[in-house]
Amino acid sequence: MWQAEVRVDLSAIRDNVTALRARTTADVMAVVKADGYGHGMVPAARAAVAGGAAWLGVATLAEALPLRRAGLTVPMLAWLHAPGMPLHEGVAAEVDLSASSLGQLAELVVAGRRAQRPARVHVKLDTGLGRGGAPVAQWPALMEAAAKAQADGDVEVIGVWSHLASADVPGDASVDRQLAAFADGLEVAGRFGVRPHVRHLANSAATLTRPDTHFDLVRTGIAIYGLSPVAGVDFGLHPAMTARARVTLVKRVPAGQGVSYGLTYVTDRETTLAVVPLGYGDGVPRHASRSGPAEIGGPVEIGGVVHRIAGRVCMDQVVVDCGDTPVTPGDVATLFGAGTPSADDWAEAAGTINYEIVTRFGGSRVPRVYDGAAG
Ligand SMILES: Cc1ncc(COP(=O)(O)O)c(C=O)c1O
Repeated sequence: MWQAEVRVDLSAIRDNVTALRARTTADVMAVVKADGYGHGMVPAARAAVAGGAAWLGVATLAEALPLRRAGLTVPMLAWLHAPGMPLHEGVAAEVDLSASSLGQLAELVVAGRRAQRPARVHVKLDTGLGRGGAPVAQWPALMEAAAKAQADGDVEVIGVWSHLASADVPGDASVDRQLAAFADGLEVAGRFGVRPHVRHLANSAATLTRPDTHFDLVRTGIAIYGLSPVAGVDFGLHPAMTARARVTLVKRVPAGQGVSYGLTYVTDRETTLAVVPLGYGDGVPRHASRSGPAEIGGPVEIGGVVHRIAGRVCMDQVVVDCGDTPVTPGDVATLFGAGTPSADDWAEAAGTINYEIVTRFGGSRVPRVYDGAAG
């Protein structure tokens, strides 16, 4: 390591996918949007496919096309399009596209004609999340239109799908309600003669905790990166990302020393401060700042000891209060990795979720280094 790095263990991603496959009879879609949750989209996708992922999932067409260009040939779904996107490019590249409304379906019909092949469509029902998907009241009309577009040869209905709101909350009643609404939606689809190849509903949390939601395909994101989708529950997955840097400066300061911008943190004793060259410009959440003992503050491991940052997270660096523990410039300071501290510890310190922590570190300033088999 030169100064700072994000290490990504591709074998961990591969093995996490293999472990997920063992927990379901459904196919596994590896969700690699947002640059593979910060892990690097193409390498993460390759590792996931090596682990047995039969599908890839991304939000946007702009994410899907580079995956195809990188030579990934497995079925792939992109689900978030603004009107007027060049969807025919997706159709031509055999990227499956989602439709949540008559308008979106109509765009896919046009895209299919332009690409001179039927658009591969996954029609989405809003079973309760209140985000993407057709409202239940509009579902019969959407199914009727999908059946017609398929009969006309403009689309092929590959999937019927939906997304869960609270599968990460064990026992949450919304999962049962959404499951029932999904079953109703499939029944309506059948009435219009729409028989999808794949029905899919489950995210990582549902994949790990609700086998009754699996249907033909599960869409797993956070779990393939080895992080738990359910706060506080360990599913035995292996975190793939480590964020670390080398200490640039060490100094002994007296009690009463203000630390970092705003001097919000003041040392209560003589102590050793270590400067670590990672800041919010690299992905460290500023909300993990610590102005005093009452705040958790982001944890940093140096020489086997976990310390807390002192004061505000800056753009390029944080200061760590190491007490009387010996620290030397050049020592490796690990913000999070496969052990302690974890991305979950940072999420707790910043009042966010582990998803956001790793995704933030996908920025381009810190070199990303890959370990393990890329597949
Ligand atoms: C539609 C959809 N499906 C699946 C996922 C994967 O979710 P998770 O990372 O919780 O497995 C996401 C991610 O947010 C999503 O937007």
